[in-house]
Amino acid sequence: MKPLLPGAPNVTSDIPFFRARRQSKPVEEILRDVRETAARPLERSGTLPAEIYTSDAFFEWETQNILQKDWLCLAHISQLPKAGDFITLDLLGEPLIVVHGKDGVIRTLSRVCPHRAMDIIPPGFDVPGQNIADARDGQDCAGHTRLFMCPYHAWTFELDGKLKGSPEMHLAECFDRAETGLTAFPTEVWNGFVFVNFSGTAEPVANLYAEMSDDLAAWNPAEMEVVVEMAWDCEFNWKVLVENFSECYHHIGTHSKTLQPLMPAKETWTEEERPGFIREHVPLKQSVLDELKAATDAGSEFPFIESLDARKSSEWGLFIGYPSLLFFTGPNQFVWYRIDPLTPDRSRLLTSILVPKSYRSLPQFEACRDSAKKALVEFHSEDMDTCAAVQRGLYASGCQRGRMSHLEMPVWLFHRFLAARSKGLWPAQETPAAPSQNGRVGAIPA
Ligand code: FES
Ligand SMILES: [Fe+2]
Repeated sequence: MKPLLPGAPNVTSDIPFFRARRQSKPVEEILRDVRETAARPLERSGTLPAEIYTSDAFFEWETQNILQKDWLCLAHISQLPKAGDFITLDLLGEPLIVVHGKDGVIRTLSRVCPHRAMDIIPPGFDVPGQNIADARDGQDCAGHTRLFMCPYHAWTFELDGKLKGSPEMHLAECFDRAETGLTAFPTEVWNGFVFVNFSGTAEPVANLYAEMSDDLAAWNPAEMEVVVEMAWDCEFNWKVLVENFSECYHHIGTHSKTLQPLMPAKETWTEEERPGFIREHVPLKQSVLDELKAATDAGSEFPFIESLDARKSSEWGLFIGYPSLLFFTGPNQFVWYRIDPLTPDRSRLLTSILVPKSYRSLPQFEACRDSAKKALVEFHSEDMDTCAAVQRGLYASGCQRGRMSHLEMPVWLFHRFLAARSKGLWPAQETPAAPSQNGRVGAIPA
């Protein structure tokens, strides 16, 4: 599996067999099952009904009740450092611009023109003045501009979305230019990452992820820079990826030759349940740390981040912010996955590697970046193949409800998140928080 497959056939949707479970049980029945299953303790936990990954109706429900209601991470501030810098992306069917305003505020604007609904920066159009400097992986663009101009009838917009010019509209009665502009969605910047909330009802990002912020401070991600970006066309449900990302039990199988020798599955452990996020620890073997240190001394890997304590510089850390914020950290890098759910069985993924800004001036920067990218491609390709095979399994009539290992605690916690959100709550609000596995190998929370 290679990164980015533009125009790749949508295999799952094109085969009628795979559509079988798209219209199955009513959503309320599926949600009842989710709540009952997630209420079981970890040692009796099991997988959720396959319909949550395959049904059109469930996809519609989670889009409205989770993805549009909660915060979604769009960008990192290093991608738009100056006033006028912007990136474009599509998320949940919304064509968006994330732009750094003249007033220093980062905004998320709809790209849909308020005149006749044209996408004002459509893929493939060369819009004068907008300096689309870098079309990344065929879909997202980055650029710099003073104004946005719709290519259909040349209306122009300020960086905050307000209408600036609208040619030949002087005979239009009661046309209020001041009331006309691009739709702006609620946007927050937290630890250097830009988030959008489509419903406008979410509590501040900083409240939801408060404790995670304390933990992330050692990496200081606001002072990092995105140095690698790769887009992936995914033939699986977004939650298949979240679950795969969150547990390391599969190092035994999927990554038996890549990650398991470095980070054995049985050494991984998960912290106590929080309302807003999951935190897992993935210790590196001492011999691997020694090799990594030697490679950093030789200039073939990025240097260790100096501000990390002994534990943080000797393991990978996993952070899963509900619903879809995915970070993993290492002694010398910070990795962010952005998932865009497209249909029940199709998603688009952007994987990004960040390092401290000061690393850009290292003489060995290019070699270190290439090495970090190569490693990510190698093990993430294994995850891509696994997730696609899981999605195919979820459609099959032979698909069963499985039992789970204590090493899959993060998957169980994510299921408890889905159950809580189905009642408009967050985990650990209505039920006691599940305790930490505390680094005890084989520990099972009561
Ligand atoms: S649709 Fe944008 S100016 Fe007409
Ligand atoms: Fe994996």
